[in-house]
Amino acid sequence: MSNINLVTVDGPSGSGKGTVCHIIAARLKWNLLDSGALYRILAFAALQKKISLDDQKSLANLALNLNVSFQSNGVGVDTLLAGENVGDKLRTETVAQAASQVASLQLVRDALLTRQKAFYKEPGLIADGRDMGTVVFPDAPVKIFLDASAEQRALRRFNQLQSKGFNVSLAEILSEIKERDFRDRNRPVAPLKPAEDALVIDSTSLTVVQVVDQIFELMKLKL
Ligand code: C5P
Repeated sequence: MSNINLVTVDGPSGSGKGTVCHIIAARLKWNLLDSGALYRILAFAALQKKISLDDQKSLANLALNLNVSFQSNGVGVDTLLAGENVGDKLRTETVAQAASQVASLQLVRDALLTRQKAFYKEPGLIADGRDMGTVVFPDAPVKIFLDASAEQRALRRFNQLQSKGFNVSLAEILSEIKERDFRDRNRPVAPLKPAEDALVIDSTSLTVVQVVDQIFELMKLKL
């Protein structure tokens, strides 16, 4: 392993990983890997091309040939699929559930591995996902597992969607979160679980700033 800085942050959806990783990457000017976005893009492309979500070989082939790139736009990152910005289209519940389905397939995960490892570049990488510390970067010196109760995660998502003007049901969001959690935690391939050497942070009653501070404290000790 080289000396490039590396921090992995794994955890279920709604735990705050994305926000926390964006803040840390921006503050340190490190690279950021949003691995969930890769699974979402693959699922989106498969739905577009009407490839069945259990057709492992076709999905792996699609994953190997995806023309995807991430481009900073000053405030965030645009996700381009064959040159088209598909960022907003990836955030729907349909795509999220489809991503979690294709993510349970071994050949698909293998096909996305090299692409994920390529984000490991100077001056450092913060990698956000489900298996960053267990499978993709098992030698990372700093590993975080960010968790929160399903109810709190559903409430965060509910507030986020409501503030954007969507008319949503908290009960429905909670049941979708539980369904995706169950699939992600119980799949035989790269299940969502803390690496043995990960620091588990329960963000249920913490603010984003408090979580970021805890991660910086650990980085000071380990890097
Ligand atoms: O993090 P996000 O909600 O965007 O991820 C979408 C789905 O992609 C997750 O529910 C999970 O099934 C899958 N995923 C994964 N491994 C990763 C990142 C995401 O299996 N490293």
